[in-house]
Amino acid sequence: MARLKIKNILQQGKPGEKVTAKGWVRTKRGSKNVNFIALNDGSTILNLQIVADVANFNEELLRDVTSGAAISVLGELAESAGSGQNIELIANEIEILGKADPEKYPIQPKKHSLEFLRENAHLRFRTNTFGAIFRIRHAMAFAVHNYFNNKGFNYLHTPIVTASDAEGAGQMFRVSTLDPENPPLTEKGRIDYSQDFFGKATNLTVSGQLEGELGAMALGEIYTFGPTFRAENSNTTRHLAEFWMIEPEMAFYDLKDNMDLAEEFLKSLIQYALDNCMDDLQFLAGRLQQEEKNKPQDQRSMDLIEKLKFVLNNDFIRITYTEAIDILRNSKPFKKKKFQFHVEWGVDLQSEHERYLVEKHFNCPVILTDYPKGIKAFYMKQNDDGKTVGAMDVLFPQIGEIIGGSQREENLEKLETRMNEMNIPTDEMWWYLDTRRFGSVEHSGFGLGFERFILFVTGMGNIRDVIAFPRTPKSAEF
Ligand code: 4AD
Ligand code: MG
Repeated sequence: MARLKIKNILQQGKPGEKVTAKGWVRTKRGSKNVNFIALNDGSTILNLQIVADVANFNEELLRDVTSGAAISVLGELAESAGSGQNIELIANEIEILGKADPEKYPIQPKKHSLEFLRENAHLRFRTNTFGAIFRIRHAMAFAVHNYFNNKGFNYLHTPIVTASDAEGAGQMFRVSTLDPENPPLTEKGRIDYSQDFFGKATNLTVSGQLEGELGAMALGEIYTFGPTFRAENSNTTRHLAEFWMIEPEMAFYDLKDNMDLAEEFLKSLIQYALDNCMDDLQFLAGRLQQEEKNKPQDQRSMDLIEKLKFVLNNDFIRITYTEAIDILRNSKPFKKKKFQFHVEWGVDLQSEHERYLVEKHFNCPVILTDYPKGIKAFYMKQNDDGKTVGAMDVLFPQIGEIIGGSQREENLEKLETRMNEMNIPTDEMWWYLDTRRFGSVEHSGFGLGFERFILFVTGMGNIRDVIAFPRTPKSAEF
């Protein structure tokens, strides 16, 4: 009998049909005469109810049907009298594929804390919450490719190992094969990277943008979607040392085109989630509701699905950094000195400021543009005022910055001047500057932090819970 996935059985199975289902036992309950086994195979959040007449089975076999055990069940589908499902499987044969010692199996059929599950990340996929999160994460990755493919963008695989620091923030993980105990030294006593594997100092990429720009200058529109590494020592609920970033880069796009694309892109992903992930979203919405019950009324957030629809159906607010500073300085928390970090023109906004704008002032996603050049990367388009650059950050409720992007400086002289001001070696970046020497055009792009976006869609509160195996300071288990 061919095995059917539980999702198919629940959607298309007919009473009387003979099927085989395989999966992991979530729970077993019942009486002396009959056992009800909730079986899950990961294809859906819903379980298939297996009904086993105790008289038909060996007692020892049924004893091994415990939470976490893998089993195969051959039986006949029947209409279900129980609530919550239309169809159930009346078992004729049960085979134990893999036992799970109930004394030792960590995932018991009860509510575990997210912290506990993080410590058991190798098994947490077997819970409803993490099953839902990782199915949605998959759907969103698929939707990313789908969106760009439909728009004629080319998926460009930019390198993971690079010699450049695209963001100029110096938060890089070194890649080296030199003996750390005894590295070769230059005459000046420095580590001699010319003897290293690549003949120069290299690191894991902090962004595929610079290489992405090279692609856009020929293919027109490209996007990258890959792992990104930052050695920033920020132990927050929104930072990972290894995260996934999507970076589209488009020739002939100005800042407004860039904003329009970012907004349309984010909305298309949300629409895809609503169209394709409803069972999982509903589960997560219910989970969130339970959690919010303990919070005071005014701190509770909107229902998850309502929130997704709200973002989908409203235009993002677009204002300049300068306007945002005015709003913040006129705000109650500023006047009452409630912000932890100071606000004045020129400072980088902290997440408390971003969240005030998004959650309190506008109550809507916000795109902030035209930041002071001093707090942004060297490659951003220099505005005529001499003070600001054509940057755009998209800020989301509960998250803060979800996208960072800009129009790029396409003028060679201006770009070189800025690089010199910021001590970025122009000679090593000859290949990047060549795009400004040969056929340079207006172009723009942005980076979406994939995990931050998944946080938003799933309503989870900690970025460690939306990536399979999180890498954070002092933590690289699994
Ligand atoms: O704002 P960032 O640093 O922009 C860039 O890297 C540009 N090169 C993008 C571009 O224009 N092509 O990072 C982009 C996004 C942020 O908005 C955030 O969502 C995410 O990447 N991000 C992180 N996500 C998780 N952990 C971290 N440590 C992150 N750092 C940035
Ligand atoms: Mg940024």
